[in-house]
Amino acid sequence: MPADPPLLAVRDLCVSFPARGRMVPIVEHVSLDLHAGEIVGLVGESGSGKSVTAMALMGLIDSPGVRVTGSALFRGRELVGMPQRQLRRLRGRDIAMIFQDPMTAFTPVYTIGWQIDEQIRAHEKLSRHAARARTVKLLADMGVPDPAHMAQRYPHQLSGGLRQRAMIAMALSCSPALLIADEPTTALDVTVQAQILELLRRLRGTHGASILLITHDMGVVAQTCARTLVLYSGRMAETGPTEAVFDRPGHPYTAALLDAIPPLYGPRPDRLPAIDGIPPQPADRPAGCAFAPRCGHAHETCLPAPPPPVPIGPGQQAACVLPAEGTPLPPRGPMTECTA
Ligand SMILES: Nc1ncnc2c1ncn2[C@@H]1O[C@H](COP(=O)(O)OP(=O)(O)OP(=O)(O)O)[C@@H](O)[C@H]1O
Ligand code: SF4
Ligand SMILES: [Mg+2]
Repeated sequence: MPADPPLLAVRDLCVSFPARGRMVPIVEHVSLDLHAGEIVGLVGESGSGKSVTAMALMGLIDSPGVRVTGSALFRGRELVGMPQRQLRRLRGRDIAMIFQDPMTAFTPVYTIGWQIDEQIRAHEKLSRHAARARTVKLLADMGVPDPAHMAQRYPHQLSGGLRQRAMIAMALSCSPALLIADEPTTALDVTVQAQILELLRRLRGTHGASILLITHDMGVVAQTCARTLVLYSGRMAETGPTEAVFDRPGHPYTAALLDAIPPLYGPRPDRLPAIDGIPPQPADRPAGCAFAPRCGHAHETCLPAPPPPVPIGPGQQAACVLPAEGTPLPPRGPMTECTA
């Protein structure tokens, strides 16, 4: 475990939206540390709250009535509740985000070069000429062929892979210390996906960026992340060093996600085990463990209240422990109610 204080320390982050006349917690008590030079994976099925967590950290949720509580210290500065003017100064320069949909990041009516130039010039006093030189170099660093020419293209004129590289170039344009990458490879074919992941791994060396990598793909986590946080229905199911989480998963949900990864080598089975059912909508979560309706080990003590994560190994925590013989331990005391 690195001795330096984390670059980003998130504690008990809760995000709630108003719905059906009450506040519905979407993200509950999420905590994580991200150290300089680390890649940490945030993983979970669709709707588990990965993007909401990222957007809350970036101060980008502007839905009416949203409530964000807890703490997120970036270099010792509190992001939760930080005024938008200060957040705007941090965004792009110190913390950057690669959005789930590249078209969200780019405006269709300007060339990608112009947009990256402007991002650079918003944070640094550079001439147009100097900004363009930096843009072209960044695009080249990201493996974009003929970068000077590509900079003159509009977003819709690039392939998905090139658009993704251009978006990473824009995110890195002011050398942020922290990059939040939301599903950066989901829309890409397998070969381009592998290239983008390799690019992200190299960014630590070439651009000194630490990365919070959001994905629903445990295979991506295995290849890329030193530590992993598994979210289920907005709550932490498990967190720990990736090797430990993969070798000795504590939570039945983690184990089920791991069972669904296709083997890296050898013949692929005809059918991979999928997890039956779908996660509950946040407003319809059961009273206890949100995974209970899909869990083959659920028992009566799972139901009264959601269990909080507890230590199960060095640096590893899980909200439920599946012992080797397959009978889960009864959950411990209830998680404190989310006040968000
Ligand atoms: N602005 C909002 N208002 C109310 N509910 C929201 C809002 N944004 C997201 N949600 C709800 O929060 C939950 C988590 O959404 P989120 O987008 O964070 O999931 P995700 O893990 O990123 O999923 P995916 O893998 O599909 O991107 C979903 O149930 C979604 O409907
Ligand atoms: S608390 Fe119960 S329902 Fe939830 S994962 Fe553990 S055994 Fe399954
Ligand atoms: Mg998402």
